[in-house]
Amino acid sequence: MKKLTLGLSALALSVSAATAQASCDAGEIVAKLSHVTGGTTHPKVVAANKFAERVNAEMNGTLCVEVYPNSTLFGDSKELEALLLGDVQILAPSLSKFGSYTSKYGVFDLPFIFKDMDAAISFTNSDAGQNLLNEMEDVGFVGLGYWMSGMKYFSANKALMEPSDASGLKFRVQSSDVAKAMIGAMGGTPQAMAFAEVYGALQTGVVDGQENTWSNIYTKKFFEVQDSTTETSHQLLAYLFMTSREFLDSMENKDRETFLRIANEVSNEANLAVKAAEATNRQNILDAGGKINTLDAEGRKKWVESMKPVWKQFEDEIGADLIESAANS
Ligand code: SIN
Repeated sequence: MKKLTLGLSALALSVSAATAQASCDAGEIVAKLSHVTGGTTHPKVVAANKFAERVNAEMNGTLCVEVYPNSTLFGDSKELEALLLGDVQILAPSLSKFGSYTSKYGVFDLPFIFKDMDAAISFTNSDAGQNLLNEMEDVGFVGLGYWMSGMKYFSANKALMEPSDASGLKFRVQSSDVAKAMIGAMGGTPQAMAFAEVYGALQTGVVDGQENTWSNIYTKKFFEVQDSTTETSHQLLAYLFMTSREFLDSMENKDRETFLRIANEVSNEANLAVKAAEATNRQNILDAGGKINTLDAEGRKKWVESMKPVWKQFEDEIGADLIESAANS
């Protein structure tokens, strides 16, 4: 019988929101689920723990999921290789981190392509979105579902009210060519960097700013080392909840069915909860003394216009049809 061990501070929270670590029994197959986010209110933390909790209850005796948050097992520069090597079995990396394997995922990074998370969810549920889950089958990656994290906002060591305020500043970005081009379009300099290094880089001035969701800005305390965050909603942050073909094929048919059903149910549930988690973490930033700059419709239009050329730049690589279906979601 598996036990969940919870940190003391987590006892007041639901099991799914806490950092839950299963102790696996002898004879069970152990699947390591590694991710880079932290805290207790982050959508990925909640979804990963919920998935482990469900598998460990419903597949008890067969499969046991251990969750490693906060880059404690693998940081985001190593985790995809580790999956292919069989050193980890389940991941949920940002869709912006697949550039070495496919250019199609660039569609998720195009600035202002989704007006909100509902539009992004609608695209991921469409045929075009579902086909992208299998985009890297030849590499050995299997997409189990999409997990939304939130819209992204820019923070910097000065208030960014207009795109031109970013001119000359250095911004940390994920390893995405689209994100790099977007920073260039604002007159800034992009610097790709692993998520675990961002707080230190902001604190020491290696970079001046970054872009992320409320949940990452709060749980990683970026707001503490930035002047303010501007509510640009310029890009989506979402994850590919994934495993390897090798791991999936190693299961008995009936176990694979249960595993895939739980993955699907947890993904749907996670996406329904994400807006509330983002609102909570936005308020947590304000309560902790962080500053948020809002934009009116005119102000927002300037950001949209400054970044629009990026779409054209990536049209051939991503595909005009794919861009159109995402934009019309
Ligand atoms: C994540 O939310 O998984 C990390 C996002 C980032 O690298 O900025």
